[in-house]
Amino acid sequence: MKICVLPGDGIGPEIMVQAVRVLDLLRGEGLAIEIEEALIGGAAVDATGGPLPQSTLALAKAADAVLLGAVGGPKWDVLARELRPERGLLGIRKELELFANLRPAILYPELANASSLKPEIVSGLDIMIVRELTGDIYFGQPRGIEERDGERVGFNTMLYSESEVRRIGHVAFQIARKRNHRLCSVDKMNVLETTQLWRDVMIEISAEYPDVELSHMLVDNAAMQLVRNPKQFDVMVTGNMFGDILSDEASMLTGSIGMLPSASLDCNNKGMYEPSHGSAPDIAGKGLANPLATILSVAMMLRYSFGLEEAAVRIERAVKGVLAAGMRTGDIYEPGTRKIGTAEMGDAVLAAM
Ligand code: IPM
Ligand code: MG
Repeated sequence: MKICVLPGDGIGPEIMVQAVRVLDLLRGEGLAIEIEEALIGGAAVDATGGPLPQSTLALAKAADAVLLGAVGGPKWDVLARELRPERGLLGIRKELELFANLRPAILYPELANASSLKPEIVSGLDIMIVRELTGDIYFGQPRGIEERDGERVGFNTMLYSESEVRRIGHVAFQIARKRNHRLCSVDKMNVLETTQLWRDVMIEISAEYPDVELSHMLVDNAAMQLVRNPKQFDVMVTGNMFGDILSDEASMLTGSIGMLPSASLDCNNKGMYEPSHGSAPDIAGKGLANPLATILSVAMMLRYSFGLEEAAVRIERAVKGVLAAGMRTGDIYEPGTRKIGTAEMGDAVLAAM
C-alpha cells in the first residue's frame, strides 16, 4: 500500500506527524505500508512557485491513497488566484477525479457539551454527507470577471452532466444501503435547472435501490433542518457548492470540527483522505492542534481504499477510548478533563491501540 503523504500548511505538518505514527505502528505489526511525502499548497508555492508541483501530482497518481493535512494561510492570500494554496487542493481533486467526497458528522457522546445545540438535539448524531467534488459551479465554464456595458461583471457557470449526477448518486445510494437506508438529496430545483436535472437523475436511479428510501429537500430548508432536527438525516447527497456549505454546518453540530475526517474517492475507491478542518494558521507550530481528525482519516483510508475494516475500527476505538479517558486538546477541552497537546494526543492514541 503506497501512501502519498501531503502535510501542507499551518497545522498540517504537526497533525500529520501523529497520523504517520499510527501508520508506522501498523507497519511495525506487518502491514505492507510505504510512505512517500510531497509538497502541496503554500509550502509548495514557497519551494517551487506553484501550489501543485508536477512531482507531487505524479506521486499522488502513482500512490494507492493520499493523506493530506491542510492547505492555506494568510501569507498566500495576496497571490494571484491560480497560485493560491486552495488551487492545489482543487487541482489534485480534479486531476485524480476524486468526485465523491464523504464527510461524516458524528457526535462522540463524550463531546456532547461541545455542540452549540442542546444535547438532546444532537446526542447520537451520525450523518454522512456525500458531496460531489469535481463539478458544479466550482469548475463550470465560462467563468471570470470582465467588463460589460462600462462596468465589471463577475460570472460562473453551474453545470452538471447526467453522468456526473448518476455516479455520485450511485455512491450515495450504496452508502445508504450500508447504513440506515435513508438518502436525502439536496437541491434547489425551484430555481435552478442544473438541480432540476440533479433531482430527475436521482429519481431515475432510485429504481435500482428499492431498499433505500429517497427523499428530496431544497437546500435552504436543508440548512434549517440541520440545526432544527439534525437526527432526521442518515445520508445526504448534494452538489459541490451546497455540499461545501452544508458539510461545514453539519460539522459544527458536533461541536468539534477538529474531530472529523473526510474521504474523497474516485470510481475505483482510490482516495484522498483529509481532516475536514483547515490549516488553522493562528495555532500553527505551537503543538496545540487536535490530530484526531487526521488520525481518523487514516481509519477511513484503511476502510475505503484498502478494505481493512478491522484496522479502521481499531483506530476509531482507540480514539473513543482516549476521549473516554478524559484527554482533550484545547478545541474540545472542558473543565474536568485533561488538556493536552498534539504530540501527547498522538501518544495516547498509540497507547490505546
Ligand atoms: C473544503 C474547502 C475547499 C472547498 C476550499 C479550501 C477550496 O472549503 O474542502 O470544503 O471549497 O472545497
Ligand atoms: Mg469547505
